[in-house]
Amino acid sequence: MQMAVAALGSVPAPPQAAIASAHPAATSAGREILEAGGNAFDAAIAVAAALAVVEPYSSGIGGGGFFLLHRAADGHETMIDAREKAPAAATVDMYLDERGEFVRERSLNGPLSSAIPGTPAGLVHLADHYGRLSLKESLEPAIRLATNGFIVKARYHRMARFRQSAMVVYPSTAAIFLGDDNHAELGEVIKQPDLANTLRLLAEQGTAGFYRGEIGYRLIAGVRAHGGIWTQKDLNDYEVVEREPVIINYGGIRIVTAPPPSSGGVAMAEAFNILSQFDLGAMTPNTRRHIVIEAMRRAYRDRAEYLGDPDHVEIPLAQLLSVDYAKFLAGDISIDHATPSEALRPIGVSKGEDTTHFSVLDTQGNRVAATLSVNYPFGAVFVPDGTGVLLNNEMDDFSARPMTPNAYGLVGVDANAIAPGKRPLSSMTPTFLETGNRVGILGTPGGSRIISMVMIGILDFASGNKPESWVRAKRYHHQYLPDEVQFELGGLTKDEQLDLRQRGHRLRENNRNYGNMHAILWRQSKGEVSAASDPRGEGSADVFDVSIAHQR
Ligand code: GLY
Repeated sequence: MQMAVAALGSVPAPPQAAIASAHPAATSAGREILEAGGNAFDAAIAVAAALAVVEPYSSGIGGGGFFLLHRAADGHETMIDAREKAPAAATVDMYLDERGEFVRERSLNGPLSSAIPGTPAGLVHLADHYGRLSLKESLEPAIRLATNGFIVKARYHRMARFRQSAMVVYPSTAAIFLGDDNHAELGEVIKQPDLANTLRLLAEQGTAGFYRGEIGYRLIAGVRAHGGIWTQKDLNDYEVVEREPVIINYGGIRIVTAPPPSSGGVAMAEAFNILSQFDLGAMTPNTRRHIVIEAMRRAYRDRAEYLGDPDHVEIPLAQLLSVDYAKFLAGDISIDHATPSEALRPIGVSKGEDTTHFSVLDTQGNRVAATLSVNYPFGAVFVPDGTGVLLNNEMDDFSARPMTPNAYGLVGVDANAIAPGKRPLSSMTPTFLETGNRVGILGTPGGSRIISMVMIGILDFASGNKPESWVRAKRYHHQYLPDEVQFELGGLTKDEQLDLRQRGHRLRENNRNYGNMHAILWRQSKGEVSAASDPRGEGSADVFDVSIAHQR
């Protein structure tokens, strides 16, 4: 395991382009931009902005996220960190009551739960530094979608029902997403003229069109009128950061993935370094699953103790990423028995459900893996009047009180405590995979389970399977606390469950499936591109011809 930016040696260009995202309209928006001569980075702007319109429960310009990039011309790899930041007035105890008890409602609903959005600055940065087209051209499909509207389908319907009671507290927000009768009916058309206007201002003026001027003013006025603490200075101060990806070498696969403030890369590095201490290929599937669970348990334990915003806390990266440390952690894994989480070294306490992912490959070989979020479905369920911008509730990703679980049951300590200007720790894990003749692009939403889902996808890639298989793979998860193996509905057979129980694992079957992975595979040796969207969602994957000559 090492931190590095050099990609594998020069490679041929893919014969076709591919886009896989959580919504057919977003996949089409990206294709339109590639066909207009844009590159993968321009297409990523179009897909992200379209998702902001048609999948408001998952991500949006009121949220943030990570764009992992690979530029084919020079192998440059970077992650644009467009994660939200806590406002300057945020305090460590802002979600505790007078008795010091955590008040979940405050960190989940309404603008007090919202951090300063990063996605608009991320889109501008992508266009300015990596795109070929103007931001205006790349945002055009999303502006059209917001103006003309989109049709409510089953997933939207389910998410809207889930957040309905919280949203109706803000009638003007509910009017946008639930309609006048507070029920988003299947087949109803949702139009967002205010969002179209905000996107247009962003397209014409760049960051100033969102963070300042009319929209900046309305954002601050709306937030402060409903108990929020943002100031214009918070908006003025927001900046994206380019960060060096985490690179993991596992079984001949070069995994390029998200560094802090995502916990994904470091947790996966630790887990895969632990797995490297075992001969998984020689094990029965049940034993292998048990070992993967034990690796997850240990990686999520360290996530809770050490990880946070690298601009605010010292993360012992060298230790967490070292093979020697993984050997030490692997040392007490029993082949036959689960390790109770409480038997692991205690954490030193000194004091999604939703999100979206999409993958893009262009015919030059440029790649984007982007995972974006407003956190909980429909974020803070609050839109400042006249902006169309649905705000995130990403503040809940901080640990509001040491070892008190957040909405995903994740615990943490000081490293992820709230502080002004700090980015909340994330689990979003956009990832590239390379073996020398295969390139993979993948990621998924899913809160704390993102990391385990991406791990399971990578293990399936390692088995030589294609994206259709990665996105279908049955999902199981361990996050240290609670000390249980969660698995999706039908994710483990009765025999597999029995085997894990006999090894001492406590099991909990989810009442439904989870995750929404969108993945691309480029088989360089065969000159073949394939892509797949998770059958659990309503997304679409498209592989199509775009001639390089057509590109500007
Ligand atoms: N809001 C989900 C995450 O960042 O992990």
